[in-house]
Amino acid sequence: MQRDAAVVWHGFTQMATYADNAPIVVERAEGRELIDVDGNRYLDAISSLWVNTLGHRVPELDKALTDQAAEVAHSTLLGNGNRTVIELSEALATRVPVDEMHVLYASDGAAAVEQALKIAFQFHTNRGTSTRTRYLALGGAYHGDTIGGISLGAGGFGTTVFDPLRFDVVRAPGYDDPSWCDTAIGILETHADELAAVVVEPLVQGAAGIQVAEAPDVERFAHAVQSVGLLLIADEVATGFGRTGTLFASEQCGFRPDLLCLGKGLTGGYLPMSATVASKAVYDAFLGEDLSEATFYHGHSYAGTRSLPPSPCGTFSSSTSSASSPTSRNGLRSSGDDSTPTSSDDRTSPLCVDTASCAAWSSHHRRPTCGGADACAPRRSGVAFSSAPWATW
Ligand SMILES: Cc1ncc(COP(=O)(O)O)c(C=O)c1O
Repeated sequence: MQRDAAVVWHGFTQMATYADNAPIVVERAEGRELIDVDGNRYLDAISSLWVNTLGHRVPELDKALTDQAAEVAHSTLLGNGNRTVIELSEALATRVPVDEMHVLYASDGAAAVEQALKIAFQFHTNRGTSTRTRYLALGGAYHGDTIGGISLGAGGFGTTVFDPLRFDVVRAPGYDDPSWCDTAIGILETHADELAAVVVEPLVQGAAGIQVAEAPDVERFAHAVQSVGLLLIADEVATGFGRTGTLFASEQCGFRPDLLCLGKGLTGGYLPMSATVASKAVYDAFLGEDLSEATFYHGHSYAGTRSLPPSPCGTFSSSTSSASSPTSRNGLRSSGDDSTPTSSDDRTSPLCVDTASCAAWSSHHRRPTCGGADACAPRRSGVAFSSAPWATW
């Protein structure tokens, strides 16, 4: 602990009191449990902040990771390709609810959102309109901690200090307002001419305290956005990979986003990886002469590194299998078992720790809870929340 506090700066943590808050210093993990440096075991009830969808030390994933490490450490996607990313992208293409998709990779959810914002703006610019400079976002929104992310975000989480840096967005009500959809459509119509895109967390606003919308409302709003020719960005960093009863929440909300942001569960927590998935219509707007201004001049060092997912599609396939089919104990699909789970099947829908666990964790760590029993609202809209990803096992 002292060694930790002496050299590590923890995110979202007041370091002057870090050591007093009884932090867990993890040394290793097994399945659903974290094991600290003193050998104490803890249920990883927050699945390491929603990323570790399949548990720790899954033998197939461990092997895939070491297999990849034996091939190459890293190769850039900026101007070149690599086999792993091609295969992963081909697998995603069969699963994501985006028309004729192309994937731009990044490392964290916020970076995926940031990419989407820039793509949306340049999409219009490439088509001859550079005045669409604003975005519509919802109350309660959370899209990560970059400047773009906290601008879209509804505030809180210590962002007030950055208010002078946050750019202005058009704000509609969040899912905690029962009439959010009608109001948001009205606001959309008022501002449609100045907007580059609308950003939503389909079905569930996770960081807002697991605020759940009715799927038909999200569908109605999404169709309103797309019917006025605006780009719809679905941020599924939290809801993606089977956490709401379908592989992606957009699917049960009945729409196909123009841009889809993925993160967290994409590699089952094995390696940092996120992605911005673009539809063909969006992608095509960036095609042109080599080095022309139509090009999307954006990319990160670790965007699509060679050894990203623990196998070419290993983690992803495992994630998708666990979300779309009954699972064996280790979260991988049982061979020969093709029965389809219902959306109310707890095994398929891990997103939120249960309220009691959340409260216990928060109390232990002196953090605010995720919003309490009402906010965790299990099983609304056919959405089932179970205590953790391993409920799928
Ligand atoms: C909906 C949503 N978008 C974006 C993010 C940011 O992801 P990351 O922490 O990987 O940057 C989060 C994180 O919780 C999220 O819930």
